[in-house]
Amino acid sequence: MSLQLWAGCAVILLALASYRLRRRPTAIFPPGPPSKPVVGNILDVSPKAGWIKFTKYKDIYGEFKGLLWLSVADHLAGDLVFFHGLGNNLLVLNSMKAVQDLLEKRADIYSDRPAFTVVGELMGLGQSMPLLNYNEEWRAQRKLAHHALSPRAVKQYHVVQEDLAALLSKQILEDPEDFFSHVRLTASRLILSITYGLSVEQAEDEYITHAEDTMHMISNATLPGAFVCDLIPILKYSPSWVPFQKEAHAGREMIERLVTRPLEHVKKEMHAGTAPVSLTRDLLSSEVQGVNDKEHSIKWSAGSLYGAGGETTYATVLTCIMLMAMHPDKLKKAQDEIDHVVGVDRLPLISDRESLPYVEALIKEVMRWHPALPLSIARCTAKDDTYEGYTIPKGTIVMPNVWAIAMERTDQYDPTAFVPERFLNKKDDRFVDPTLWAFGFGRRVCPGRYLAENSVFILISTIVAIFDISLPENEELIVEFSKGLVSYPEPFKCCITPRSASKASQIIWRAAQSTI
Ligand code: HEM
Repeated sequence: MSLQLWAGCAVILLALASYRLRRRPTAIFPPGPPSKPVVGNILDVSPKAGWIKFTKYKDIYGEFKGLLWLSVADHLAGDLVFFHGLGNNLLVLNSMKAVQDLLEKRADIYSDRPAFTVVGELMGLGQSMPLLNYNEEWRAQRKLAHHALSPRAVKQYHVVQEDLAALLSKQILEDPEDFFSHVRLTASRLILSITYGLSVEQAEDEYITHAEDTMHMISNATLPGAFVCDLIPILKYSPSWVPFQKEAHAGREMIERLVTRPLEHVKKEMHAGTAPVSLTRDLLSSEVQGVNDKEHSIKWSAGSLYGAGGETTYATVLTCIMLMAMHPDKLKKAQDEIDHVVGVDRLPLISDRESLPYVEALIKEVMRWHPALPLSIARCTAKDDTYEGYTIPKGTIVMPNVWAIAMERTDQYDPTAFVPERFLNKKDDRFVDPTLWAFGFGRRVCPGRYLAENSVFILISTIVAIFDISLPENEELIVEFSKGLVSYPEPFKCCITPRSASKASQIIWRAAQSTI
C-alpha cells in the first residue's frame, strides 16, 4: 500500500476518533485554544520551548477566570490547558496543586509514560526506565536503580564526585575559555565512572562522543511533534525507504550500542577480576529479589541512568556559571560563606553541604531560575478520569509544566530575578522549594536525585571556592537556552580567573590526589 493511501486511511480513522471524542455525552474538557475540524488544536503545541507558550496560556485563561468556566472549577482556570486532535489528547498542568492532585494523589492513573512510536518502538528506547509504562519491567529496573542510588548507597561515590570536581576546576584553570565543554565532559565522566567504573580516559575515548550524539538525537526525537508518525502511529508500517524509517533504523543502532558496550566491558573486567567499583558491578554481583531477567533489566536500568543523568547535571552547572557572571554580589556571598565555614586550606566536601545554607539556596535558585527539565517528563493516563468537573480521557499525555511553577508570581520578588535569598528562610512557604518539583513527582520521581544533588553541589561549590567569574569585557553575555526536553545554556562567554595564586596551587595539588 502506498504511503499516501496509508496516510489517507489514518486521517479517516483519526477523524472518527476525534468525532467520537467530541460526542462523549457528558464530557467537559479542560479549556484550551480554539480548535479546527480533525486537527483540533493539537498543532498549536509548540515542538520547541513549549513551556513558554504553555505558561502564557495560564495567564490568558487565568484572566478569563470566572467568565468562561464559572460552572466548572473556576479557581483552576489556567492551571489546566487541554489540546486535542488527530486522535491525541494533551493536558498541560500549570500549577503545583494540579500536579500534586493528579500525579501524586492519583498515581495509579498518572504514572504511565506516553508511547513514542518512533523513539520508543522503532528505535527500541521504550525498554528503558524513563519510557517504560508503570509495569513489571519498570518496577524491576526501578528496584535496581534504588538499590544503587539510595541516600545511603550514593555515599560510596562521594570521593569520585569530589575528585572529578577538582579535575574540572584544574581544567578550567588551564583552559578557562573552554569551560563549557569541560563542564559537559565532567558530567558525562561522572555518570560513566559511577555507573560502569570507566576511567576518565576510557570514558572519553570510547564512549562519550557516541553517548553525546545519541542523547542529542533522543532529545530532538522526543520533542512533541518531532515525527508525524508519533501522532499517526499507523505510519510505522510505511516502507523502509521513507526518511523517518531510515532515521529510526540509525537511531536503533545508536541506542543499542549505548546500552550494550559498557555493560559488556564491565562483564569482561569482572571475569578478569579487574572491575573497579561501579553501580553495574554492584548490581551484577548482588542478589536483588523480584527481578526476572536480571541482565536485561541491568542493561536498560544502567543505560537509563547515563541518558537521564548527564545532560540534566551539566545543564544546572552551566546555568549556575552563567548566573554567577551576571550576579557578582551573589557569587561573593557564596565565596564568603565557603571561606568562613570550610576555611581556606581545603576545598569543600560533600559532607559540608548542610553547613553551607547560602550555597544551597543559591543552587535552589539556579534550579528555579531555569529548570533543566522545564516540562519535566510527560506522563500518560491509564484510564478515564474526572478532575474538578473536567473529563480527562484515557491515553491523555500529561505535561507537568514546572516552568509555570518556577515563574509563579509572589508579592516579594520578581520571578525572573535571581534571588537565592528567597530560599534562606525555610519557614516561608510562599516559595516552593525547587527540589520538590525539579526532580519530578510521585512514583516516578527521579531515582538519581540524591546523586544529582551531591554532584551539582560539589561541582558548583568547588568552582565558586576557587574562581571569580565575570562578564566578558566589551562583550554582551547572550542569555539563550536550548529548547529541547533538557534545556541548557547555549554556548556563552565569560571570564573565569582564580581568586588568588594560592587558590590556583590548591586546585593543582588536590587534582593530583585524584584516584580516577
Ligand atoms: C540536576 C539533575 C537532575 C534533574 C533536574 C533530574 C530531573 C528528573 C525529572 C524531572 C524526572 C522525571 C520524573 C517524573 O516523571 O516525575 C527524572 C527522571 C529520571 N531521572 Fe533524573 N534528574 C537529574 C539527574 C539524574 C541523575 C544523575 C540520574 C541517574 C544517576 C537520573 C536518573 C533518572 C531516571 C532513570 C529517571 C526516570 C525515572 C522513571 O521514569 O521512573 N536523573 N529526572
